Amino acid sequence: MVELKNKRAIVTGAAVGLGKAYAHALAQEGVHVAVCDIRDEIHEVAESLAKLGVKALAWQGDVSDPALVREVVDGAKDAFGGLDILVNNAGVWGASVADDDLDKSLEDYERIVGTNLKGEYLFGRAVIPILIEQGAGGDIINIATDHMVTCGTPWDRCPNPGACAFDYPRPTGGGDAMDLYDAAKWGLNGFLYGWAKALVPHNIRVNAFCMGATDSYMLRSFHNFEPSQEEVDSWMRAEDNAQVMIDILREGPDGRNAQNVNFCVGRPVKTEPPNEQIYVYADQVKLGGAS
Ligand SMILES: NC(=O)c1ccc[n+]([C@@H]2O[C@H](COP(=O)([O-])OP(=O)(O)OC[C@H]3O[C@@H](n4cnc5c(N)ncnc54)[C@H](O)[C@@H]3O)[C@@H](O)[C@H]2O)c1
Repeated sequence: MVELKNKRAIVTGAAVGLGKAYAHALAQEGVHVAVCDIRDEIHEVAESLAKLGVKALAWQGDVSDPALVREVVDGAKDAFGGLDILVNNAGVWGASVADDDLDKSLEDYERIVGTNLKGEYLFGRAVIPILIEQGAGGDIINIATDHMVTCGTPWDRCPNPGACAFDYPRPTGGGDAMDLYDAAKWGLNGFLYGWAKALVPHNIRVNAFCMGATDSYMLRSFHNFEPSQEEVDSWMRAEDNAQVMIDILREGPDGRNAQNVNFCVGRPVKTEPPNEQIYVYADQVKLGGAS
């Protein structure tokens, strides 16, 4: 287990929801945190992080804007004296369907893929050279969706189907109004496996969280901000998920790598052992012995 105190992190999309919970959990561990978001509440988040005794910085802007990404990453690196952790969390949902009009589709593409895929790509490209140059390893966690791995893959079924709130096996994929959202999130697998393999020699781990329904602004918006108590009670809590993130970061360079960590409604949100490596050979992403 590694000590997280005085490590330095960036969390994107941290004004509300999961990102805010991740930023707070990191600060509670003594991690200095830089946050960014399109919402102006992001400045209040930084103030509350600073009250936990860590350095905290905030930028307001769009993660799909390369200038913003450069500003956040270079600004955090300069202020903190380096970087150790990137949590690529900023995400947006919007309905998009196969027969949408082309003009609407282009706007949707820029917004949904721009945030959910391009934003994570840009932050990765900006942070990774810094981690490599520092030579001290690091962690990247990309936030994806359970649509990618619900109940597993054709090769690996969920070991605990009885705990699931849905019929088993629930087909992988979201609804028919999620083609862009799911395409962007599936695209994160390219970064997960490509980055993890490329970064093993540098002791940099890359993992992804495949989120099921977790109480947040986004999830409440699906219910017109009036969810029933029964619905709310069935959702996972961002704080519990943030604790799993802390546990996985604490694993350090001997920990899991190149893994989609799945969080399903109905199943306790706790740190489970690593999955068997399916999409990449285990020795391609094995750490611990890397130098
Ligand atoms: N909550 C869930 O049930 C759930 C399920 C599956 C996946 N996710 C994923 O988890 C992540 C966090 O989602 P959440 O539920 O906390 O959502 P949320 O809407 O509550 O929070 C997302 C945050 O990202 C910010 N954001 C959106 N677009 C941005 C942009 N272009 N640039 C900068 N910031 C931007 C928002 O302003 C917001 O503060 C997202 O990637 C989402 O796709 C969540």
